[in-house]
Amino acid sequence: MSSLREPLSAQTIRAALFHVPFVREVVYLPCAGSTNDAARELAAQNAPHATLVVTDDQTAGRGRLGRSWYMPPRSALAMSILVRPHLAAIHANRLTMLAGLAAAEGVQQVTGLAAKLKWPNDVVIMNDELRASRIPGVKKMGGILTEASIVADRIDYAIVGIGLNVNVDFADRPELAETATSLMLQLGREVDRLSVLAAVIDRFAARFDWLNAGDALRTAWSARLVTLGRRVEARLGGSDDALLIGFAEAVGDDGALLLRTDDGASHRLLAADVTFHRGNIDNFSTR
Ligand code: BTN
Repeated sequence: MSSLREPLSAQTIRAALFHVPFVREVVYLPCAGSTNDAARELAAQNAPHATLVVTDDQTAGRGRLGRSWYMPPRSALAMSILVRPHLAAIHANRLTMLAGLAAAEGVQQVTGLAAKLKWPNDVVIMNDELRASRIPGVKKMGGILTEASIVADRIDYAIVGIGLNVNVDFADRPELAETATSLMLQLGREVDRLSVLAAVIDRFAARFDWLNAGDALRTAWSARLVTLGRRVEARLGGSDDALLIGFAEAVGDDGALLLRTDDGASHRLLAADVTFHRGNIDNFSTR
């Protein structure tokens, strides 16, 4: 077994995070259904702010919109941070913004890859080959799932789940490789999961104050968003499953996407499935 495929442990995670005092507790689970669920159980038992839950084998990982999240054992990072922020419930999306930004920055710091974000919660890679390829033009290498417990319009606690395809090869799920990638597939070599974990958590901790700091989070998040400045298709879900096609103009302080449709109307989207419109393909630029 290559050393990079060895299991993590609470001890090695704590050692990798020795320079991040933000993290109060580390809980390592060799196997878990979902780290978000495990973190929620810990929250119910009064686990402190900044408890980090990590597993090597997540068997029932969850994504946005009730989707499942694929993770072969010891190949990826699946982690959840339990936080108890002083934050109004209406600002809960900022946790997803913060975690996405931290994930992209941490990945870039360790690998040099220009990790980007796709609204609202995808961590993506858009390299030269992908820029030249057909839709989707970006490949997903990670995702964020934030779940909050609200008491009287405030966040009592939130679970910020981060999944990153570090050394995943998609050998047993080749259909996923059409839209997903991993750091290993991008670089042609395996990547040390602990280094990525430490860099991402370090960035999350360093930016935590931004949850209440005006425009800083939105500005940094926007700068990594490949969605902005492009024509996109937004599927709204719901009973009529409406489809909006328009220009992704901007994002608001709480992560809402401002979409200008061809009739000139401006739509403020809080949740949707967004894909690039075909017209973008020939003029993708690096952001
Ligand atoms: C998405 O892209 O829709 C979000 C994926 C989030 C996956 C992570 S893995 C760690 C944490 N535990 C889960 O069950 N989901 C998140």
